[in-house]
Amino acid sequence: MPFRRIQSKLLKDRAMRRSPLLHSHLPETLPYHPDVLKRMLDRHAVVFVKPDLGSQGRGIVRLKRIKHGGVHISWGLSSRRVNRKYMVRALHQRLRPYQPYLVQQGLQLTKYHHRLMDIRVFLQKPGSKWLISGKVVRVGAAGRFVTNYSQGGRPVHLSKVLDSIYRHDQQRTEAAIQKIDQLAYHAAAALSGKFRGIRVLGIDIALDRTGRIWIIEANTRPGTQLFKQLKDQSMYRTIVARYQRIKYMNRIHRRK
Ligand SMILES: Nc1ncnc2c1ncn2[C@@H]1O[C@H](COP(=O)(O)OP(=O)(O)O)[C@@H](O)[C@H]1O
Ligand SMILES: [Mg+2]
Repeated sequence: MPFRRIQSKLLKDRAMRRSPLLHSHLPETLPYHPDVLKRMLDRHAVVFVKPDLGSQGRGIVRLKRIKHGGVHISWGLSSRRVNRKYMVRALHQRLRPYQPYLVQQGLQLTKYHHRLMDIRVFLQKPGSKWLISGKVVRVGAAGRFVTNYSQGGRPVHLSKVLDSIYRHDQQRTEAAIQKIDQLAYHAAAALSGKFRGIRVLGIDIALDRTGRIWIIEANTRPGTQLFKQLKDQSMYRTIVARYQRIKYMNRIHRRK
């Protein structure tokens, strides 16, 4: 297989967390257990439960603390409210048996035109260095708490969104872009230090409503549709060209 794939979100989280710079940008993430969920919901107003080996926004459940000891449980386009006593039972109706899950601190994602959004950074390593091939904002579909392309998330240019969020303050926009790049490069270094042979990464980065920047997860087999959908094809062309280069290098290495 030409591209190494690491599926476990927990393993990738552990690898990134060892970097002191990344540590404070990673939401608290633990293997799922009912007791862990309860403790997490004491600490955080919102928590996410995700399949550890999941992708494309599938199978994710969001739990939100509400008044009078209640919990608001959401999945897909549906939701229900339950008393905290029945939270675990209600959650388990949504989970698949025998599949590993994780519990993660929920973030209050920034909104763009009333939709939740986050940022996808696409990195490739065609030679000896990681390069950012593209960055794009994913704006979630109405009613969804995931922004994935396969769940109706749509791409918008990063500069356009940051310009709107920071109200045309060029300096804040520049500073945010720099921080995003720095986190992406550090994540790539941490992950490829642990998982030799990865050459492509899609890092999901969130801006929360207090302005903090977070890494939600890292994908070793990221899709290219988001970039293909943009009218400006320059990032997409870069991605395709670098994929060609990586494939070419792999062929040469295999012959040796
Ligand atoms: N901790 C979180 N806080 C807020 N939103 C989240 C959180 N985790 C995931 N999301 C939302 O759900 C989407 C999918 O989650 P992610 O961990 O990337 O799983 P997948 O592998 O299915 O893409 C994210 O892009 C983001 O929009
Ligand atoms: Mg993702």
